[in-house]
Amino acid sequence: MDLHFRDVSNYNDLKEYINNAKNNNKKLYLEIGFGSGIVLKKRVLKEDTVEHIGFEIKGKFVNRLEKFKKKWLVKNLMVKTVDAKYVIPRFIEENTFDKIFIYYPDPWWKKKHKKYILFDYYFMADLYRALKPNGVLNIKTDVEEYYELIKEKFANFKHFKECEFNDFAAEEHKSSFEIKAIEQGRSLHKLALTK
Ligand SMILES: C[S@@+](CC[C@H](N)C(=O)[O-])C[C@H]1O[C@@H](n2cnc3c(N)ncnc32)[C@H](O)[C@@H]1O
Repeated sequence: MDLHFRDVSNYNDLKEYINNAKNNNKKLYLEIGFGSGIVLKKRVLKEDTVEHIGFEIKGKFVNRLEKFKKKWLVKNLMVKTVDAKYVIPRFIEENTFDKIFIYYPDPWWKKKHKKYILFDYYFMADLYRALKPNGVLNIKTDVEEYYELIKEKFANFKHFKECEFNDFAAEEHKSSFEIKAIEQGRSLHKLALTK
């Protein structure tokens, strides 16, 4: 097992990147679980005055985005192979992000998946803390049952308020997971919450 994620020095570059953005009054966006990264890449190129961060557990997806950065000389993106649930409570300060994006987060077909749902109350509290006041958490899912469940959970959590979905890139471009969902006839659901 790769233990690098337990090494605190692995996050120095992340803290530095965030501090630089804050010192230069730049907006900061975070995408969690960007997968093939289609939407993240479009957002990074279009919103080039914003600093973008991507957290993804699977290293192969992070490597793809590193190649994209090199190819297009992208300076406003940091991607890291990490578990967002580990990193956010430990290394992200309160009021950091203007927007957070989480699209098609969990597989949902097997019983065991439901036990490990991304949106538990601890993670929701971590996201709330990480967002700036008036910041927006944008979520998409292709599973109606999942949508209803997280809507109810956010209502019980009470701190967020529902608001307009707010991601130009995801309105204009489809992620690979979204394309698959449409091909397979599943309906798409959006949820946006503000602090
Ligand atoms: C179903 S895929 C969707 C990928 C992409 N958002 C899309 O729309 O095509 C979910 C992604 O989230 C990543 N992921 C799941 N849990 C995560 C976590 N705790 N931290 C970071 N990434 C995570 C998975 O590795 C996977 O790439």
